[in-house]
Amino acid sequence: MHILDASDPAALDAALGDAVFDIIIDDGSHRSEHVIATFGACFRRLAPRGIYIVEDLHASYWPDWGGRYRAPGSSIEFLKTLVDALHADHFAPWDTGIPEDERARLVVQGAEITRVTFHDSIAVIERGSDTRSAPYPPRLKRRRSRPGCDFTGPRGRIARGIGRHRRVLGPRGAG
Ligand SMILES: C[S@@+](CC[C@H](N)C(=O)[O-])C[C@H]1O[C@@H](n2cnc3c(N)ncnc32)[C@H](O)[C@@H]1O
Repeated sequence: MHILDASDPAALDAALGDAVFDIIIDDGSHRSEHVIATFGACFRRLAPRGIYIVEDLHASYWPDWGGRYRAPGSSIEFLKTLVDALHADHFAPWDTGIPEDERARLVVQGAEITRVTFHDSIAVIERGSDTRSAPYPPRLKRRRSRPGCDFTGPRGRIARGIGRHRRVLGPRGAG
């Protein structure tokens, strides 16, 4: 057993080396800043297909715990951004409403996540398998040969835009 600050990457490195886990449960302080920092420190220690569970998310709505309804910086608002990350491959390349650094961060984060589920007070985030590669562009490529598919329109531009992004960021699951 190790007793340490789960939001401290250096402490985790010192105690755990490069160990990864099938299940990680955050049942710590439930303060929003700790939940977010712990996710940042621990999610990379999730094994392929592992699940990360955050408990007692009702605290995210409580001001005394660093939260409030729709409060920027609350843990539930952070976890909602993982839903965006899950869909980052589908962002339209010409959507100027997404800052480039945020788009890039969400694409990289989305590459590691395969499922996000919310329950009452609990979020479950599932890591993809190491072997998963970008599913969206190949699926589009397969459809290209189907009759009636026009890839010169907006969806074609989406596919080309994602391809450009991938070349910059590397394959899904890298890093
Ligand atoms: C709600 S209790 C849950 C304890 C245990 N999981 C259980 O079910 O009995 C929260 C525990 O998380 C610990 N804790 C709070 N912040 C932590 C952090 N950053 N890293 C590791 N543990 C933390 C507290 O010391 C406390 O023991």
